[in-house]
Amino acid sequence: MAFPDGNETGTFLALDMGGTNLRVCEVTLTEEKGEFDIIQSKYRMPEELKTGTADELWGYVADCLQQFIEYHHDEDKIEQLPLGFTFSYPATQHYIDHGILQRWTKGFDIEGVEGKDVVPPFEAALAERGLPIKLTALVNDTTGTMIASAYTDPLMKIGCIFGTGCNAAYMEDCGSIPKLGDMKLDPSLPMAINCEYGAFDNEHKVLPRTPYDVVIDKESPRPGQQAFEKMIAGLYLGEIFRLVLVDLHQSHECEIFAGQDISKLKKAYSLDAGFLSAIEEDPFENLSEVADLFQNKLSIVCTKPELELIRRLAELIGTRAARLSACGVAAICKHKGWETCHVGADGSVFNKYPHFKVRGAQALKEILDWPEHFGKGKGDPIEILPAEDGSGVGAALIAALTLKRVEVGQNAGIKDPEAMAQAAKLAKKANPFN
Ligand code: BGC
Repeated sequence: MAFPDGNETGTFLALDMGGTNLRVCEVTLTEEKGEFDIIQSKYRMPEELKTGTADELWGYVADCLQQFIEYHHDEDKIEQLPLGFTFSYPATQHYIDHGILQRWTKGFDIEGVEGKDVVPPFEAALAERGLPIKLTALVNDTTGTMIASAYTDPLMKIGCIFGTGCNAAYMEDCGSIPKLGDMKLDPSLPMAINCEYGAFDNEHKVLPRTPYDVVIDKESPRPGQQAFEKMIAGLYLGEIFRLVLVDLHQSHECEIFAGQDISKLKKAYSLDAGFLSAIEEDPFENLSEVADLFQNKLSIVCTKPELELIRRLAELIGTRAARLSACGVAAICKHKGWETCHVGADGSVFNKYPHFKVRGAQALKEILDWPEHFGKGKGDPIEILPAEDGSGVGAALIAALTLKRVEVGQNAGIKDPEAMAQAAKLAKKANPFN
């Protein structure tokens, strides 16, 4: 319910349970305004865990936290460390330290977690190991990204993830949030909104879909969910590409890879967004790197026209992803009437996929009708910039802001969280540094 002002201090743990890795950080927000120190460890998120049991998941997450504490605080006597937990899945949150998982996304499919608060089983796993950790805030990665980016750049108004999944967060005024209507909050109080726009157009009423989009959805663990995400996020780009190639091989009009063994290409999800990136990155006119990739990874020898088709196909899939991603950002800006702002973006597709940024900037220009000289990214009225570390620093900051709000509320003898927010606002007004 607030942006940081740079004066937050303290030491916090941050846990990021993203799609690919699990990361634990210890973030120290120092006395110098807007500065922080961070130590971190990464742990692989084993593939089996994503479709295993809830006990295995929480046990593994708690084991990683335990390893981190033992490694970095071997001899130290630590009291309770506050934790910001970045849980990047759609969750219903009535309080900041709770979250009912609406549904798994990004290929996760663990039984018995959907529809329940994820915090109690997580805390139980911590307690079993006697870990001195207190979950203070459950955070979406987009919210963390927005808060971390705003910590160092006051023009940042939106946090986005273009990675394994896709989504964005922005700050709304409580008065414009219908579902908070009954709470009688000060309408001008800020509230972070996690848009979950990966689920945009689940009804399939707006965006044209290709037959490949239809297959991706049908074969996924949650058909009918995350329609927008399935067209643009890193988890799916390689698979869309693979489905098109298999189809073209089988179609009578254009029998590519004729007479070749395409068994490796037939394996679902065998190509990732990195494969597509490498195709788009081949600097050579004769696409010799693409040829090597196909030979080494798929045992397919390509002709020149096939190589050109492959490159064009990668460009089309990458361009559609970047342009649709820009639509999400444009939608928030239009909704809020923002004509200029900075957008903090993170995620593997944004950071690594070639031309993604320029294609996105060009699309923003077309949607928002900017004059001709804009649309290159740098210097545009709405600029999508690399974000600060949302799931590390962002989660820590949100934990710090939460503790501050609770403290202000407790000092004023207030128990109700929303009333606390009001108190925090009064405190903010009273503090000339805020
Ligand atoms: C999740 C979001 C998350 C996004 C990016 C989506 O699948 O539903 O909560 O922000 O991925 O990680």
